[in-house]
Amino acid sequence: MEFASDYEKIILEIGFGNGENTSFLASKNPNALIVASEVYLSGIGSLLNNIANNSLKNIKIFDQDVRELLFKLPNKIFDEIYIICPDPWPKARHHKRRLIKHDFLKILAKVLKKNGTAYISTDWENYAESIEEELEKTKDQFSFTQISNEGMPITRFQQRAIKEGRPIYTFLLKVLDN
Ligand SMILES: C[S@@+](CC[C@H](N)C(=O)[O-])C[C@H]1O[C@@H](n2cnc3c(N)ncnc32)[C@H](O)[C@@H]1O
Repeated sequence: MEFASDYEKIILEIGFGNGENTSFLASKNPNALIVASEVYLSGIGSLLNNIANNSLKNIKIFDQDVRELLFKLPNKIFDEIYIICPDPWPKARHHKRRLIKHDFLKILAKVLKKNGTAYISTDWENYAESIEEELEKTKDQFSFTQISNEGMPITRFQQRAIKEGRPIYTFLLKVLDN
């Protein structure tokens, strides 16, 4: 990303859905670049509408599997990464498809700058437990804690969870000196 030096910081959002949090991040950080990754076309359309309606100038959309992007990028490029409600794959036989695994966390640690942070939230208790287990395996790369998501926008999937009475679990990860 040769244009990276034009921005105060670079933020990545993975699986932005309809882009509620992406638009919020772009408005809150006008001097940052928000790299927004999503494969769901209707969601990309919603974010494009938001960009046009709010004249947002600092979002770049990547419309393929985020791993394609992460493999190509140089190390230590992002200041912050957000992953809100990654697909939960609730059936046990599908758990292997979950994004938040040890190997993926290692890639996040590689592309985050020193002192970079990642926010990962899920509305599925079983996924939260699994995320914690995967984070335990990555303790040499991240410190982590569970936080409240107060002050962050409520996304479509979070809204559904709240309506169904499910709590939201948010992890804040901080890259250790790497
Ligand atoms: C459960 S939805 C959550 C959407 C949104 N963050 C929210 O909270 O409303 C998960 C999203 O991640 C996207 N996604 C899943 N795997 C992805 C990948 N490898 N790269 C980019 N997006 C991905 C899906 O298309 C889907 O829209």
